[in-house]
Amino acid sequence: MPDLVWQQIKKKGFFGDRQVFLLEETDSTNSVALDMGKKGVQAGAVVIAEMQTKGRGRLGKSWLSLPGAGVYFSIILRPQLQPADMPKITLCAGLAVCKAVETVTGLSPKIKWPNDLLLDGRKFGGILMETAEMSGPGTMLAALGIGINVTTPLDSFPPDFRREATSLLGHSGRTYQRGDLLAAIVPELDTVLKRLEQNGFGGILAEWKERDGIKGLRLTWLTPEGLVVTGFSLGPDEEGVLFIKDDNGVVHKVLSGDISLAEK
Ligand code: BTN
Repeated sequence: MPDLVWQQIKKKGFFGDRQVFLLEETDSTNSVALDMGKKGVQAGAVVIAEMQTKGRGRLGKSWLSLPGAGVYFSIILRPQLQPADMPKITLCAGLAVCKAVETVTGLSPKIKWPNDLLLDGRKFGGILMETAEMSGPGTMLAALGIGINVTTPLDSFPPDFRREATSLLGHSGRTYQRGDLLAAIVPELDTVLKRLEQNGFGGILAEWKERDGIKGLRLTWLTPEGLVVTGFSLGPDEEGVLFIKDDNGVVHKVLSGDISLAEK
């Protein structure tokens, strides 16, 4: 079936009244969005790619971006937030993508703090927010990048990641239209980010917790200093920071670093 929404976006360069740049190939839509933002392209503009040659994720990881197999895009943001509140955007985006995927597919994705989107414990999507010009409310620039594996063949993932990765097709056996996903995700993002700016994080956190994919599970946290902490996830607090209770009962505040499910 032709992806009519995608074709429309491609033809018009607009999605509603939002400017859209649909690129056949780029290194990373986040890089393009940050460059455009610095040159004055308006907030809300979306950079989409059919494929990325250097798609990237958190902690220096790469993001496989095969041609036409996924939704790879970045939105230019100029959030009305204090710099300390910026990390909450990643959690907001996770909630927005979950809701949109629920609507389009009927599936029930979960979120692995802070930025992984899971189906049956396997990652099918991720979020990468990168910032520039951080100096106060309204003057910050961010690229909010989202990648969703839609039809990515499971055997195309790197061998060491294959057990953990999936795509919507790989999980459900169904092919969803990238245009439908994009058209659902972008308004959800607008809504949740407006809520964050106007009403704060509390209500969003409550909805996020309904989709917490690791609450109560045994985790390994590789700290930025290279230490390994094993314990149970207590979930994030109202600042969006994750807490883990280790095997000695000590509660750790996780600001960054890599989280993985502990071996049973
Ligand atoms: C992660 O899993 O750590 C985040 C993955 C984010 C991938 C998206 S694809 C669009 C945008 N451009 C990038 O280079 N990365 C994000």
